[in-house]
Amino acid sequence: MVLHEHLDINEKGHLTIGGADTVELAKKHGTPLYVLDENVIRKQCRTYREAAIRCFGEDALPLYASKALCFTGIYKLAAEEGMGIDCVSGGELYTAKKAGFPAERIYFHGNNKTDRDISDAMDMGVGTFVVDNPDELSAVSAEAVRRGITQRILLRITPGIDPHTHRAVVTGNVDSKFGNAIVTGQAMDIVKKAIATDGVDLVGLHCHIGSQIFDIDPFADAAKIMTEFMARIKSECGYEIRELNLGGGLGVRYTEYDRDIDYAACIKDIAEVVSGLCEKNGIRMPRVILEPGRSLVAAAGITLYTVGGVKEIPGFKNYISVDGGMPDNPRYALYQSQYTALIANRANAPRDFRATLAGRCCESGDLLGENMEIQHAERGDTLAVLVTGAYNYSMASNYNRIPRPPVVMIRDGEDKVVVKRETYEDLTRNDIF
Ligand code: LLP
Repeated sequence: MVLHEHLDINEKGHLTIGGADTVELAKKHGTPLYVLDENVIRKQCRTYREAAIRCFGEDALPLYASKALCFTGIYKLAAEEGMGIDCVSGGELYTAKKAGFPAERIYFHGNNKTDRDISDAMDMGVGTFVVDNPDELSAVSAEAVRRGITQRILLRITPGIDPHTHRAVVTGNVDSKFGNAIVTGQAMDIVKKAIATDGVDLVGLHCHIGSQIFDIDPFADAAKIMTEFMARIKSECGYEIRELNLGGGLGVRYTEYDRDIDYAACIKDIAEVVSGLCEKNGIRMPRVILEPGRSLVAAAGITLYTVGGVKEIPGFKNYISVDGGMPDNPRYALYQSQYTALIANRANAPRDFRATLAGRCCESGDLLGENMEIQHAERGDTLAVLVTGAYNYSMASNYNRIPRPPVVMIRDGEDKVVVKRETYEDLTRNDIF
């Protein structure tokens, strides 16, 4: 096993994913290539769903935050696994619709839904809008009234938790483009406005505290603030909040320095905290919703590249250049995100070389990692970057006019292309001059 159970090394010394030989996959489909193990995604969906039902009851509905990885096939898979989804744009909604995803299980997020987004989403019958701000509340209400419908909504609340500085920093994230802060009074204002507004049914509250979080304390802090706020709504407005969405954010093991997470145990712990807090605050237990993105799909994915060359600069660094880079994975360039990389065709060889992994763009910042532990490499090797299932394909661009790689899904050892490789023709399709 390499980092995660579905990644292994076969008798040829090749890295395998879900039983498939990555060197063969690279030969067959070309590189760069995104590869996903379908069984891993399904297993993660089941872990979340079963734990949610066990802890929150039959009507629990974990949502897949589809910004992490978005194409029609992933929505089909999420639908089959009984998940709801979080969509954040007209494009994600359109893709979900094309995949036949049940609209009533969609939560429509985003801090600036355009009039067209609102109207398209209502045409589709999107179940729930997560309303970000008072202007948006007015727009959603006006469109619902115009149509003679009542739209289910949650309100996005900013509890003021910074998950990385930890606890007590309860005003940490009030300065956010998202949502309505409790400490400033804006959260209570929008709740009162929503209760009094026609065309909307205020069913609940939403908060999202951050991403790549490894312990449940920040969720417990958020739950404490949110349930106390729910109790205030009950006493000040005589109104019962029936749904509490605590967002996504549980972390994923990207390198051997990251811990593994027991997701079912985290959900159980969060459930116990929320239930205790509801009792303490004298409110009924709401329907609790979690909204993971990364932890459902990240570990399932790897990216395969072909090494173009290796440069050792005496007294400085070693560079391994690959045929992809920031267009298929901008996360190192953006956040210095850490990854594990290995030479897939010599996966058993010791990782005793230190190198900077360089992409092929005309830009020095186009790196996939620096000072990485990897095997000695040479031109023609297949290089794998692990745990790229989340926020890679979904954040990919055509910078330098580089076509996006295809996505291949492995199911029980068999590979199938689920997203085609972009062509040069695709790149010029919309150029009309
Ligand atoms: N719900 C809301 C409202 C969110 O904003 C997000 C992520 C999620 C759920 C899912 O969070 P997750 O479980 O994936 O941590 N591009 C960045 C991550 C941005 C996350 C944005 N919101 C990255 O590549 O690390």
